[in-house]
Amino acid sequence: MALVNVLVVGGYGAVGVHVVKTLAGWFPGRVVPAGRDLAKASRLAEAIAATDGGGSAGTAGGAAARVDVTDADGFARVLEQHQIGVVVLCVEPPDATVARVCLGQGVHLVDVGASYRLLAQVEGLKTAEATAVLSVGVAPGLTNLLARRAHDALGGADRIDLTVLLGAGERHGADAVRWTVGQLATRPDGAPLRVELPGFGTRTAHPFPFSDQHTLRRTLGVPVVTTRLCLDSAPLTAGLFALSGAARHAQVRRALTAVLSRVHMGGDRFAVRADAYLGDRRAAYALAGREQSRYTGLVAAHVTRALLDGRLPPGVHHLDQLPALASVPEDLGLRVENALEFNRISF
Ligand SMILES: NC(=O)c1ccc[n+]([C@@H]2O[C@H](COP(=O)([O-])OP(=O)(O)OC[C@H]3O[C@@H](n4cnc5c(N)ncnc54)[C@H](OP(=O)(O)O)[C@@H]3O)[C@@H](O)[C@H]2O)c1
Repeated sequence: MALVNVLVVGGYGAVGVHVVKTLAGWFPGRVVPAGRDLAKASRLAEAIAATDGGGSAGTAGGAAARVDVTDADGFARVLEQHQIGVVVLCVEPPDATVARVCLGQGVHLVDVGASYRLLAQVEGLKTAEATAVLSVGVAPGLTNLLARRAHDALGGADRIDLTVLLGAGERHGADAVRWTVGQLATRPDGAPLRVELPGFGTRTAHPFPFSDQHTLRRTLGVPVVTTRLCLDSAPLTAGLFALSGAARHAQVRRALTAVLSRVHMGGDRFAVRADAYLGDRRAAYALAGREQSRYTGLVAAHVTRALLDGRLPPGVHHLDQLPALASVPEDLGLRVENALEFNRISF
């Protein structure tokens, strides 16, 4: 039986809901929202079936699934039961087991995960037929694509600096907030940088362990890649990084997660920027948008559409390694700004 449907795990989360709604518009009746709460997944499935005329174009109209990414056998059963051809992972699994199950069954994978440890495990998997796309989202994701552009503009690079600004006023998903706070304790050494970002002026951004700084060293062959993070609220940024040492303690992490989930001091705009250096030359690309969760979901939906259209080769790839996806920022309506000059990069 043909594998035609898309399973969106974490499908009713902050990122996943945008994946589900966007794909349901493009592929009516072929999208199955999933998570550990079947009632929530079913409510979303019914809502999208109601707007696509009952899902008559596909086999999964109105279907939802209970899936726990820590239960590999149950996950494999759901793939078979719902004739799943693509899995979009909008939750971080504990290890590469579900990725291995997907690729082993010839099911494509789109992973919005941002932890280098996990991406490195999936990178190592072999697949002759299926495709896995990693580094999907805003950071990693759009950062990878801007880094690729800055690198290519110079014809190579010996260093790339990435900067990410997140809106502290956005209602980020619980998993994303927990992930960000969890990374504070392991943040890399390095000095903060003053960086100009479109629409925000010059901000202080601090070294932060996004996965792109590791993967881009290999995919672009650049020896030094760094990523820095700031929030749109300068006081919150200063407070967060002042506490990063204390974030080694679970109690502090819990308190910070609670504060960041409840206090919305700022707006919902985000920005990303990539600066590449080669000798005394420098190229910089940047973009800004609203609601990083929504854009993460939109990037994942565009990647999934390219997979379903047969535009991506088999194998495990990061977003920046797929030329067919190089125009994703423009496809999303984002304006990419660039500056190719030395010592004066202004947006
Ligand atoms: N690449 C990027 O730029 C980027 C940006 C934002 C977020 N992310 C990543 O995307 C992921 C989701 O973030 P989010 O903001 O959408 O978080 P969220 O709103 O908390 O959503 C997480 C979803 O996953 C489900 N889930 C949790 N544990 C699960 C499990 N064991 N098995 C199956 N489903 C499970 C949750 O539902 P139940 O709890 O009911 O199961 C929920 O639907 C995070 O890993 C985050 O780091 C990446």
